[in-house]
Amino acid sequence: MKTVITYGTYDLFHYGHLCLLKRAKALGDYLIVAVSTDEFNEIKHKKCVYPYEERAAIVKAIKYVDEVIPESSWDQKVSDVLDHHVDIFVMGDDWRGDFDFLGEHCEVVYLPRTPDISSTEIKDDIRGGKGII
Ligand code: CTP
Repeated sequence: MKTVITYGTYDLFHYGHLCLLKRAKALGDYLIVAVSTDEFNEIKHKKCVYPYEERAAIVKAIKYVDEVIPESSWDQKVSDVLDHHVDIFVMGDDWRGDFDFLGEHCEVVYLPRTPDISSTEIKDDIRGGKGII
């Protein structure tokens, strides 16, 4: 059995998130998603619309996802990979190169992002009044 792990904020769950999770699951048999906690987002100066419990519940309900764990620090990745016996670490290619150091413990894969969508863009579009709401 191959275990895959990926990390993210997953605010305002959108099609790019869905495509990433579908392709991540297709690389193995069991997909773990580490969703950033509200406290960790504060450290990153990132503000979410939905709180952790709601972002985690939405991600957990996606059929490709087997388990959700909290991401609460930058440096938990090595211990997550070892504790969960992870075979493949997956991120969108906006992170290309940043996690190559995990390569000594598992395979590291960067998947192309779905073009033209992000949580930040959705927030900006709504704030900018592009006729969405
Ligand atoms: N992702 C993707 N394609 C997109 C948007 C996100 O493949 N269009 C991937 C990211 O590369 C990451 C995962 O989805 O692996 C979670 O990304 P996240 O940062 O939560 O989503 P974004 O929409 O990029 O959020 P933000 O705008 O806040 O950075």
